[in-house]
Amino acid sequence: MISLKIDGKLVKAERGATILQAAQKLGLEIPTLCHHPALEPYAACRICMVEVIKERKSELVTACNTAVQQGMTVWTKSNRALAARKMNLELLMARAPKVKIIRAMAAEYGIKKIRFPVENPEEDCILCGLCVRVCESVVGASAICFANRGSDRTWSKPFDKASDTCIACGVCTYLCPTGAIQMEAETAQQFRERPGEHRECRYSLMGILPYALCANSFRCAQCEVDQRFRDHMDTHPIFVARNCDLESVSAYHEFLKRVRKE
Ligand code: SF4
Ligand code: SF4
Ligand code: FES
Repeated sequence: MISLKIDGKLVKAERGATILQAAQKLGLEIPTLCHHPALEPYAACRICMVEVIKERKSELVTACNTAVQQGMTVWTKSNRALAARKMNLELLMARAPKVKIIRAMAAEYGIKKIRFPVENPEEDCILCGLCVRVCESVVGASAICFANRGSDRTWSKPFDKASDTCIACGVCTYLCPTGAIQMEAETAQQFRERPGEHRECRYSLMGILPYALCANSFRCAQCEVDQRFRDHMDTHPIFVARNCDLESVSAYHEFLKRVRKE
């Protein structure tokens, strides 16, 4: 175990744990937008900046992907850490100015106007990569990917064609912090068009139900089975199906609900 201090409190964390995990052990909240406990850290949003003091030198690091070190001192709310978060929020505001969660976070940090040029006022994707990463590493479908480079970068379906590996699990929609990705009518239609024995319910495709054909014509939003699974599992069913660490996944979803103010 590694001992370190966060905001003046001593904490022990496992070797390889991140500053974010150690802070969460102490009940300290560090804001995140591109992080999910079931996924490898990606460090795209830079909202989780904290200040680390090492050998009397101060350094700003992202808490979600920086490993704890013996004797480390971390400040999650120092002036430097807060200023860095604020700057990164301002950049996110310029990228996705209408997104509710970004606006709510920006308001918390006292940001009243956007200082940087807004390229597309309708943009709602912040390129956090949650949708692409969860589809690849938790679902195992790799039905969506990033396309283009630089300021044109966005998520897409491979070759921009309807993906035939999508199992309509919906976890990409569920995790997207901004609402930029939605289950499209096209996806549901694709499932409806499948012949007889291929019309499997998405819970069956997730491996939660034994082989079951969808009797609801893939109107998942109106499906009682869907509702019951969600109520019962308290998180997205794919995390249950893939044996993820449900305690940390549920804690994260509680956090997400609070910041989205649902
Ligand atoms: S709904 Fe389709 S694209 Fe989205 S995570 Fe599930 S398999 Fe991937
Ligand atoms: S669509 Fe949503 S989850 Fe995917 S990269 Fe954009 S903001 Fe992140
Ligand atoms: S949560 Fe750490 S960089 Fe996004």
